[in-house]
Amino acid sequence: MRDATNHRSVPALRPLRSGHAALLHDVLSGLSRRPKRIPCKYLYDRRGSALFEMITRQPEYYLTRAESAILSRHAEEIAGAAGEGCTIVELGAGDSEKSLLLVAALRRPRAYFALDIDEAALARGAERLRRHRPELPLEGLHVDFTRVAELPPEVPRDRRLGYLAGSTIGNYEPAEACDLLRGLRRLLHEDGMLVAGVDLVKPLHLLLPAYDDAVGVTAAFNLNLLERLNRELEADFDVAQFYHRARFDATKSRIEMHAVSRRAQTVTIAEVPFTFAAGEYIHTENCHKYRLGEFNLLARAGGWEPTASWVDETQAYAVVFLRAARA
Ligand code: AVJ
Repeated sequence: MRDATNHRSVPALRPLRSGHAALLHDVLSGLSRRPKRIPCKYLYDRRGSALFEMITRQPEYYLTRAESAILSRHAEEIAGAAGEGCTIVELGAGDSEKSLLLVAALRRPRAYFALDIDEAALARGAERLRRHRPELPLEGLHVDFTRVAELPPEVPRDRRLGYLAGSTIGNYEPAEACDLLRGLRRLLHEDGMLVAGVDLVKPLHLLLPAYDDAVGVTAAFNLNLLERLNRELEADFDVAQFYHRARFDATKSRIEMHAVSRRAQTVTIAEVPFTFAAGEYIHTENCHKYRLGEFNLLARAGGWEPTASWVDETQAYAVVFLRAARA
């Protein structure tokens, strides 16, 4: 490894410097659609990542606890499946809190690479992992993992173990998720492995509060997107004139987060006016919920062979172990 202590961006990977233009483009085009929508990755600026970390500690948000419980309880089996000396490639690492458990479970991991679009979260994660596993070479790569076609040369080519934690795969519509899995199959190579956290279908009385907690952290997380547009694009959202809504679309088996306009209003972004009717919303995130069998089909379609899965005691959540299928 060239520089195991470097947690900053790797220039070869086209770091997110052109971020402003991409944000502006995606927002202008998304708000021109009906219904209006903005890609959910833009929820995760510095403040959004901090709010998301707070969400994971809310009593209603079962996902993180369930994944942690599975990783601790089945650490031995996961380690056995992964084998010795793999290189962990965490996809959308955030602050790497959950990765500690996976890293702890594995036998003599060779190195750890965290990929994330939030540089501050990467730095915090690197710090945390370094404290727990000072001997493990690690590096943070400030990239959008859905867009990188290759990892930098210091990432060992063999025995790559991708980690898609926290039901991140649920953010993508099934067709996108399939493409993403195919991309990861290429990124992780023919002996690649992938550990994915998958949130399962469950009753609404459990699902909805997880995306609309009593304290309002999820609401703040969602509406921070509008504040971000004010900060970064000089938009003029009156954020108090929008509210957070989480609803379950049973046909698509997904939670949708919306930022709903309280009244008829016009918002201007880069001198482009966007009108909202009362009750009109911006669709800000999808969180798909799967049955295990459905997810396994999706994984196969994406070039992976599911070889093991573990479900938590409450059957809320699964961790699935995938091996690259033969091309
Ligand atoms: C971890 C990004 C997949 O779907 O639970 C939490 C994000 N959004 N509350 C999820 C999220 C609102 C989340 N992901």
